[in-house]
Parts: sequence; structure tokens; C-alpha cells
Amino acid sequence: MIVISGLSKDYSGKKVVDCLNLGVAQGELFGFLGPNGAGKTTTIRILTTLTKPSSGHVLINGIDVAKNPEGVKSEFGVVQQHLSLNRDLTIAENLKLHARLHHLAPDDRAKRIAELLDYVELTDHADYLVDDVSGGMKRRAMIARALIHRPKLLFLDEPTVGLDAQTRRRVWDLIRKMNLRQNNSLSDHSLHRRGRGIMQ
Ligand SMILES: Nc1ncnc2c1ncn2[C@@H]1O[C@H](COP(=O)(O)OP(=O)(O)OP(=O)(O)O)[C@@H](O)[C@H]1O
Ligand SMILES: [Mg+2]
Repeated sequence: MIVISGLSKDYSGKKVVDCLNLGVAQGELFGFLGPNGAGKTTTIRILTTLTKPSSGHVLINGIDVAKNPEGVKSEFGVVQQHLSLNRDLTIAENLKLHARLHHLAPDDRAKRIAELLDYVELTDHADYLVDDVSGGMKRRAMIARALIHRPKLLFLDEPTVGLDAQTRRRVWDLIRKMNLRQNNSLSDHSLHRRGRGIMQ
């Protein structure tokens, strides 16, 4: 699902990602660990087309990210490190906007949004403005938004930062549940079901 080869990134001559080689299989729950400033967000930004690498290659589901940035975007969803919901809108309106940006068919939109709100347990808060829900609810709304277009891959950049222990556990449980559900719905029995992580 992800193949990274010889990936490097320099900012003003300073190397922040240094020749990263990494593969992540379909169905894997992969944890990318490292201290502040290690280059995790930079790597995720490169994988999701927001930043250009200085050198190296990335394939997402076989698509070269540098050569086909528009084509690769439908393959993944992203939950960014910073809160990126539109604060002038309600939770449901944020999801609707994203569904339109991803060109979901009108009759599919409402069904998909209802399904996702239920999934992240935000149905009762669908009509609340973003500022009027808790930090954990905002994170769950961001996860729902990232899944609108049924991506095969979900990038989560520190999705539990700033959350209390209980809410943190709830978000992780949701991520595990999503991974299990997705894997169970796939017929490929060669999936890697274990979690994996690296330390820098
Ligand atoms: N746009 C930029 N211009 C210059 N330097 C940058 C830029 N973005 C990131 N950096 C630098 O690259 C390094 C890696 O930053 P990055 O945000 O990728 O780290 P991180 O592992 O995500 O850290 P954290 O755990 O704090 O989120 C840092 O030294 C940072 O200052
Ligand atoms: Mg970061």
C-alpha cells in the first residue's frame, strides 16, 4: 500500500528526513514514532502530496505520488496534526462540504455522512458548531471527514494529542475497530493483521 524509497527532505540545507526506506502492507496498522522534530509530519506531508521531497520516491497503492498527485488523492484520507475543521460550520456541514469536494453522488452523500457520524458516535452532535464540541469530538469528526470518500488508506498525524486519557483510549479503540472492520470486509486472506512501529 505504501512503498517509500530513499526519501529525503532538506529545508535550507538542513536534512529533516534522511533517506527513509519503508513499506506498509494493505491492512496494516502502522505506528510511526519519533521525538518532536524527527520529521514525522514532514514525511506524512510528502506522502499526502502537500510537500515535495528533495529526493526519493513514494508509491501509494502503486501510484507515484510525485508523478500523479491528483490521481493519488482519492486513495487516502488525512487527519492532520492541527485542527482543520471549518469553525463557521456544524460537524455535519463540515462532512457535507468534504463530500461535495470529493464529488460524492448527491444520493450517496447523506447516507455516507449518517453512517460515519454513527460510526464515530457523533450523531447527537451533528448540528453543533465545531467550537461547541469537545476536543475529542473534534478529532472524531476529523476522522469521519477523512473517511468520506472511502479511502483505502488513512493517515493520522498525532490524532490523540491534547486529549485526556479516557478520550485518547476511545480514539485508539475507534482506529483499531476501523482497521479490523476494513480487514474483515476484504477477502484477501494474506493481509497482515499485526500492528507495527518504528523508533527513530
Ligand atoms: N516548512 C518548513 N520550513 C523549514 N523547516 C521546517 C518546515 N517544516 C518542518 N520543518 C523542520 O523540519 C523538522 C521536522 O519537523 P516535523 O514537523 O516533520 O517533525 P515531527 O516529527 O512531526 O515533530 P512533532 O512531534 O513535534 O510533531 C523540524 O526541525 C522543523 O523545524
Ligand atoms: Mg508532527
